[in-house]
Amino acid sequence: MSSPLDPGNRLIAALDVATPAEAHSLVASLGGVPSFVKLGLELFCGHGPALVQELVARGARVMLDLKLHDIPETVGRATAQLASLGVELCTIHAASAAMMRAAVQAASRGRIAGRPPMRILAVTVLTSMSETDLGETGTHGASIADVVRTRALLAVATGCDGIVASAHEVAMLRAVVPSDFLLVTPGIRPVGADPGDQQRVMTPGNAMIAGSDLIVVGRPLRDATDPAAAARAIVLEMQAARSA
Ligand code: C5P
Repeated sequence: MSSPLDPGNRLIAALDVATPAEAHSLVASLGGVPSFVKLGLELFCGHGPALVQELVARGARVMLDLKLHDIPETVGRATAQLASLGVELCTIHAASAAMMRAAVQAASRGRIAGRPPMRILAVTVLTSMSETDLGETGTHGASIADVVRTRALLAVATGCDGIVASAHEVAMLRAVVPSDFLLVTPGIRPVGADPGDQQRVMTPGNAMIAGSDLIVVGRPLRDATDPAAAARAIVLEMQAARSA
């Protein structure tokens, strides 16, 4: 289970905070333990590309989680802008083949000289969604696993670098996607942690056993009394699970 992105560990810390000061403080309190930090809509809507560039300049490896979803032309042009920021991972919705192809091509076009292109991850079904939530969107009785598999295969066919799904779907996906296709899983909760709005949760260790390449952890780190200690405990759990 080796990953082309894996010089260290497989933990991505979500910086789900409101201000650059809080983001820098959370990064500092994580003590360099996670391999990546993830910026999402909250920070990007408030503080935009400048904050991304600042984090990159300070040495952070950044996943930008904006979950783009629009017509192919618009997503392509937005992706080209993001590719110039030094971001390594970028999310779009697995919502149409043409849109996904446009994002992949734009990531390559907008690449920074001397660096690999930004990787495009397609979000399949949000980890906050249950079977009932998905059914309400008009999927006509298809299960979450069916929809995730269909969207993941579309992501493979359109040249995306990986997908985002819950760890519950990862074992099934491993059997049908190429071995270097990244499977990134949010909805991770250490034993006893509050799931909050997440429906399809799994522990860090079980996510590794299932075959996740990278896990995304937000509130269990952000809200910990000692985020670095919480991150280290998660990394140790992941390493123990992988060597078991
Ligand atoms: O706090 P928590 O660990 O639930 O945070 C999960 C993070 O992963 C959030 O930033 C959320 O936006 C993101 N995410 C998710 N489900 C997806 C894709 C991204 O929870 N399918």
